[in-house]
Amino acid sequence: MAAPAQSRRYTEIVTKTFYIETFGCQMNAHDSEKVIGTLEHEGYMRVEDEADAGLILYNTCSIRDKAEQKVFHRLNEYKKLQGEGKKFAVLGCVAQQEGEKIFDRAPYVSLVSGSASYRNLPEMLVRLEAGESRITGLDDRQTEETFDTEFTSRTNPHRGYITIVEGCDKFCAYCVVPYTRGKERSRASNSVLSEGRRMADAGFTEIQLLGQNVNSYRDPSGKMSFAELLAAVGEIAGIRRVRFTTSHPRDFTRDIVQAIDAVPTLCDHVHLPVQSGSTAILKAMSREYTRDWYLERIAWIKGAKREISMTSDIIVGFPGETEQDLEDTATLLEEVGYDAVFCFKYSPRPNTPAITMADSIPDEEKARRLQVLLERQREVQRKSYARHLGQVMEVMVEGHNHARNQVVGRSSQNKTVNFTTAQPILPAMGNYLPVRITQTFPNSLVGEAVTV
Ligand code: SAH
Ligand code: SF4
Ligand code: F3S
Repeated sequence: MAAPAQSRRYTEIVTKTFYIETFGCQMNAHDSEKVIGTLEHEGYMRVEDEADAGLILYNTCSIRDKAEQKVFHRLNEYKKLQGEGKKFAVLGCVAQQEGEKIFDRAPYVSLVSGSASYRNLPEMLVRLEAGESRITGLDDRQTEETFDTEFTSRTNPHRGYITIVEGCDKFCAYCVVPYTRGKERSRASNSVLSEGRRMADAGFTEIQLLGQNVNSYRDPSGKMSFAELLAAVGEIAGIRRVRFTTSHPRDFTRDIVQAIDAVPTLCDHVHLPVQSGSTAILKAMSREYTRDWYLERIAWIKGAKREISMTSDIIVGFPGETEQDLEDTATLLEEVGYDAVFCFKYSPRPNTPAITMADSIPDEEKARRLQVLLERQREVQRKSYARHLGQVMEVMVEGHNHARNQVVGRSSQNKTVNFTTAQPILPAMGNYLPVRITQTFPNSLVGEAVTV
């Protein structure tokens, strides 16, 4: 039966709906916030169920584990939704990596765009609405521009991201990012600071500065170094916490530590991925630093006036990694005393130099090595988290565990703190409270709010 004219018109209006799914790092999560803001500005309405959406966007990650195969598998599932006039878009790192091949394998996809082309999204949406079916935004390390938009739809009203540098020029042997995210390019410090001020005016109290290598930041206006920008963001009225991630050891300068010492709002935490504790493996990975060179940066951080928490990423099973290389990584974990380490099994990735090296270490052996490191690291954390027993620390409320009548929060050092309070009503999200630590675990702290 034909729908009455009135409801058909209504359907036309609500077909400008979209559903978005996001994978990958914080930069991808923040890109999605900007894509959502852009779509909403173009008159689209976000829906939580893909069945209700006219446009389905899939923001992909390609860092490890046959990511492209997973995307094609997911697209196949989407295919089942076809026939209802739905349009599909593939965004992010797999989009940039696979490019037009996506149209060949999934002809129902109408738009394929890497992150370096998102600034052209409004124009691509117009073409999509006009019925074009093979729209591409594939920059392939061409652009010098960043994706700045005032239409960012941030998911959390208290803490939000600002991307200050996009892309990567480092070309580590194993990594897809330089191929998927384009050339390294930074956003002008004025623009970063005015976004920070707008966020503070809107009630945000925590800002997290983002970049694949956040400390490789180079102000295009030449006004500020990374450390100066960090300090300036920390001095914005109303901002209580500033985080920054990920720092690359090559570009880690002493003035970053000095800035943390000087500006109390800068969080006492540095994520400084080492990848391996073996100089030979670091060389094979093209990381362009040695174990000792890395440890010198760690010594600067340990020399700070405030105790700064350190975390890292590790890859195990890189081609040629020996038992001794693994042991070098384990001893490095112990020497540094990280508060958290993200360990990954090496995964060969398309286009990267390491793809030509034999992936000689079997998966079970990689899994064993991962376990060895995780166990050694757990012991490091069991001891190091114990140092917080009895301390009072400021905790930002991030959630509630009603079943246990507990509040879940985060310390300036980025540690999870589960705590109770004497008040009958649990404190609201985004509040800051002093908490005394009464119990410690290798991955979290437990405490009670201090009544002031
Ligand atoms: N720019 C950051 C890291 C970004 S990628 C840096 O250089 O430190 C995030 C993490 O993914 C990396 O630190 C690395 O540990 C991991 N990673 C990247 N490529 C990988 C691969 N091919 N296999 C396994 N892990 C990988
Ligand atoms: Fe990848 Fe290396 Fe760039 Fe980090 S610095 S994003 S690991 S190429
Ligand atoms: Fe993944 Fe791309 Fe981020 S590969 S980790 S989404 S930069």
